[in-house]
Amino acid sequence: MPEPMTVSFPPAFLWGAATSAYQIEGAVREDGRTPSIWDTFSHTPGRTAGGDTGDVAVDHYHRYRDDVALMAELGLNAYRFSVSWPRVQPTGRGPAVQVGLDFYRRLVDELLSHGIKPALTLYHWDLPQELEDAGGWPERDTALRFAEYAQLVGEALGDRVEQWTTLNEPWCSAFLGYSSGVHAPGRTEPQAALRAAHHLNLAHGLAMQALRSVLPARASVAVSLNSQVIRPLSQDPADLAAAQRIDDLANGVFHGPMLQGAYPATLLEATSSVTDWSFVLDKDLADIKQPLDALGLNYYTPVLVSSPERAPEGPRADGHGTSEHSPWPGSDDVAFHQTPGDRTEMGWTIDPDGLHELIMRYSRLAPGVPLYVTENGAAYPDKVDGDGRVHDPERIAYLHAHLATVHRALADGADVRGYYLWSLMDNFEWAYGYAKRFGAIYVDYETLERTPKSSAHWYGKAARSGQLPP
Ligand code: NOJ
Repeated sequence: MPEPMTVSFPPAFLWGAATSAYQIEGAVREDGRTPSIWDTFSHTPGRTAGGDTGDVAVDHYHRYRDDVALMAELGLNAYRFSVSWPRVQPTGRGPAVQVGLDFYRRLVDELLSHGIKPALTLYHWDLPQELEDAGGWPERDTALRFAEYAQLVGEALGDRVEQWTTLNEPWCSAFLGYSSGVHAPGRTEPQAALRAAHHLNLAHGLAMQALRSVLPARASVAVSLNSQVIRPLSQDPADLAAAQRIDDLANGVFHGPMLQGAYPATLLEATSSVTDWSFVLDKDLADIKQPLDALGLNYYTPVLVSSPERAPEGPRADGHGTSEHSPWPGSDDVAFHQTPGDRTEMGWTIDPDGLHELIMRYSRLAPGVPLYVTENGAAYPDKVDGDGRVHDPERIAYLHAHLATVHRALADGADVRGYYLWSLMDNFEWAYGYAKRFGAIYVDYETLERTPKSSAHWYGKAARSGQLPP
């Protein structure tokens, strides 16, 4: 029998796990923190499954030391987390709250003392409610406020954090938050969603500049996009046009200005019935196109689209919740199809080739920029077995297949420097509440006890050896 091939990663490859503040911290009323849009949204009846909120989440705010110890025990060498804006700057304006910053300083020090590299994200969706009350992301001022907040955090933690990310998945903030309304703040205003997208781009560009002014030269500053792999149902010109439309609204709307300094002409044209884009001021595009030190890609599943003539039966199947409002402004006529193949508990098709495609696309779009897979993972209905363990072979298979495609992308010349599994532990899955478990570590929501699943042991082994275990 031939020996199975060893899949080895470069020695400096980062093997991480990711989380975000609102999904894990809890302690929402402690130490001066004020409500974010997700506090308001999750406390509004009917917005999240079971009325779940992040009030307690997995209590990471109080248990961070144990959580870091678990990461170290498993063998991870990197951890991606986000800072809660309303914990650090409660009204979104003015000076920082020292105790808020202190929490992240302690967390970072704990990570460093265990040899785990911190990767800090400034915005993972928890806008201070006061800023939403003043108009939120559709307003230009929110971008200016974000740059100020970025500078405060940069000044406080720049001496110990090297890897910085401005925004996580701005697509979700803009289009799920302001168009389909399945995410906070739950508005269903397509025009506001496009304004939000632009002001998120501007926020990224201004924050990059603010961070550069305070961070040491060794710092790496990035953005994490949920760039989506959009596939046409057929090569028919009408299906190709539908795919172009959704690709512009999913991807080009962010990477256009960030990497190329312009919105795609096809996007401006396709959305002309929704907005004239007059909120884009002359200087904005130069502010947005800042050289990136790295680019983060989050990947879960591809999207399959067609023209309306080939629409499938039944409700829209775009994988982004069940709102009757579309997250795609000006594209109500594009039809979404379920991609073939096995699915995770989210209903998302497992398609590792999509990750390869995504990495290769962004290698071409951002030549010379190191790439990180900043999120990839799967939800399954995990349970603690009679032996006290959690067996999740499907998640192991998922991780194995996706890491193998990352390896293939490396062999094809892509400069991928690391992989962060979503998620370190089960947590608040936004509108789905606690019903979907993405963690490598199981959390009992009654006792908050943590139990590493078999996937956590498998992944830890990969991290320690730099090779994929069978
Ligand atoms: C992307 C988001 O960044 C994260 O917060 C979320 O939990 C995962 N996708 C899974 O849906």
